[in-house]
Amino acid sequence: MIHLKNMWMNGWGSMLKEDFPLLLKEPIVYLDSAASAQKPQTVLESIDSFYRSSYANIHRGQCSLAVRATEAYENARRTVADFIHANTNEIVFTKGTTESINLIASGYAQLLYPGDEVLVCIAEHHADFVPWQQACLRSGATFKVFDVLPSGKIDLADFQAKLSHKTKIVAMTHISNVLGMINPVRKISELAHQVGAKVLIDGAQSIAHIPVDIKDIDCDFLAFSGHKLYGPTGIGVLYGKKEALESLPPYQFGGDMIRRVTVEGTTFADVPARFEAGTTPFVETVGLAEAIRYVQRIGMEKIADHERFLTRNFLDQLQAVSGVLLVGESNEKHGIVSFNIKDIHPADIAFALAQEHICVRVGHHCAMPIHHRFGQELSLRVSFGLYNDESDISVFVNALKKAITLLRGN
Ligand code: ALA
Repeated sequence: MIHLKNMWMNGWGSMLKEDFPLLLKEPIVYLDSAASAQKPQTVLESIDSFYRSSYANIHRGQCSLAVRATEAYENARRTVADFIHANTNEIVFTKGTTESINLIASGYAQLLYPGDEVLVCIAEHHADFVPWQQACLRSGATFKVFDVLPSGKIDLADFQAKLSHKTKIVAMTHISNVLGMINPVRKISELAHQVGAKVLIDGAQSIAHIPVDIKDIDCDFLAFSGHKLYGPTGIGVLYGKKEALESLPPYQFGGDMIRRVTVEGTTFADVPARFEAGTTPFVETVGLAEAIRYVQRIGMEKIADHERFLTRNFLDQLQAVSGVLLVGESNEKHGIVSFNIKDIHPADIAFALAQEHICVRVGHHCAMPIHHRFGQELSLRVSFGLYNDESDISVFVNALKKAITLLRGN
């Protein structure tokens, strides 16, 4: 039964490759979806069609094009809201996860005071680490970091020891872009709320890979990007509970975010418009909505099962290779595996893999603190998308073994 299920899953991954023109055209094995995912035909067509048939600036004109464009933008907001079980007025469009987090952190820089504390996980991407460090520097608040265990699971005891009534916000990734662990975000929210802290979840690496339900997580903020969700670059989302968004000062000033401007002063629009100054990447929101419909047609549960199966299969084969050092010992990873090979520089392996047309990421993956925590300053990272299958894993593992043999000179 399991065997049949696995065969189905493997065939399914290969079948879905056909939806991605670049994967059909290029003779590559793409194992870098955590950096950015490839785009299905339907997303490419939606962007092309919008530019050809509905393009005019949104929220500003009365002509039929402007009306169509505005409707498409607000429908995209509805699609995003439904996808994560939010309300439309809780969805702010941004340029990406980084901008979403900077929006909140720069607001908090004005709301925090000396004596307040911000608590983040050591496994955060720099986009969810540096903005908080800077917000604390600017406000005089204290920046605190909780640890992970050698397995890569978060150290809940350390989290609880560092959480207190001084904590104003907890910022944490849903799935680490290095460790690949699914973090217990619901539990974190529950504990943080008990002391009155707000919770920001970085959903950059979860949104395309597991079902994400903000009602279930009960976070105050969630940030993610379109480009990792099979959508375009330059578009991201900040979800915020209405009262949490309303508590933040505006991030950027300009057109479309105001209520009234006079020489004496300015009043601001309600959320979410308050945070959408200037001409937004509205065409990209249409592509993002189409990407969401694409993954919804497949089913987020099925995508999660498929990628879980691939990750287990990959880890089994990888751990049979001699000299493998995982970043985070646990096998309970989801879609992301970072590792080193003893005594070989990861960049040398990545170079050898590139010669075989295999795309992976090498470096610190914008997450220096967690690499340092594990004493591996750099690593190779393999990450899966819904289009990967077992043949990608075999090609990778064979190429890795070949590279190791060559680089060890035996
Ligand atoms: N944040 C992306 C990554 O982890 C770019 O690769």
